[in-house]
Amino acid sequence: ERNCMGYYVDQDQLKQAVAQAAVDYVVKKIESDSIVGIGTGSTANCFIDLIAQHKHKFLATVASSEGSAERLRSHGIQVFELNAVSEVTIYVDGADEANTRLELIKGGGAALTREKIVTAVANEFVCIADESKWVKNLGTFPLPVEVIPMARSHVARELFKLGGDPVWRENVVTDNGNLILDVHHLHPIGSACELEEKINQITGVVTNGLFALKPADILFLATQQGIVTHHPAR
Ligand code: 5RP
Repeated sequence: ERNCMGYYVDQDQLKQAVAQAAVDYVVKKIESDSIVGIGTGSTANCFIDLIAQHKHKFLATVASSEGSAERLRSHGIQVFELNAVSEVTIYVDGADEANTRLELIKGGGAALTREKIVTAVANEFVCIADESKWVKNLGTFPLPVEVIPMARSHVARELFKLGGDPVWRENVVTDNGNLILDVHHLHPIGSACELEEKINQITGVVTNGLFALKPADILFLATQQGIVTHHPAR
């Protein structure tokens, strides 16, 4: 595909463009005492690298993974422990899928639990993604579920009863010391809120990658035509 200038814009350039759009948005909202929440993944990494030149405009960050925290520190940006802050001004993170309600699937990078915790604290959740993440119905991307290690098989059986095909993401241990099951064949997910609640009820589940009960507040989507801003449809 080519853009209006006739040039092909690849996925990396789309991620860069949408990260820059988020930086412009965030810079307008922050004050010198603001805490900025930082997500995880390749799109969030673009955001980290671009917000670095504005680091004097906010107090510090909180991060949704050890990896992001390390990248932030490499830019000389302060990273606070979430327990040390009472408020997160704004949280910026990517997604694996997003629908018009701004319900998301997240966790491709195994950071879903810390991501959900930071969104719970944040005053505003800004999602950034390229157009490949935009879907009519959620569930083509296998839904990540973080589980306590000893509950892995039990949770897998329960997820199977819910109609999914759980696959253990071998060789992955989360920052919290837990395991990930990727649940295939859930597409199309009818009620994301209902499924998010049901999976959370299974004993041994820490979190699932549906962000529907608390969806994103705004989505910047990078397309070949430029950045499109989405607000949650009702
Ligand atoms: C990590 C996530 C990421 O936001 C998601 O996987 C998208 O990553 P990327 O920006 O690399 O496509 O939820 O747990």
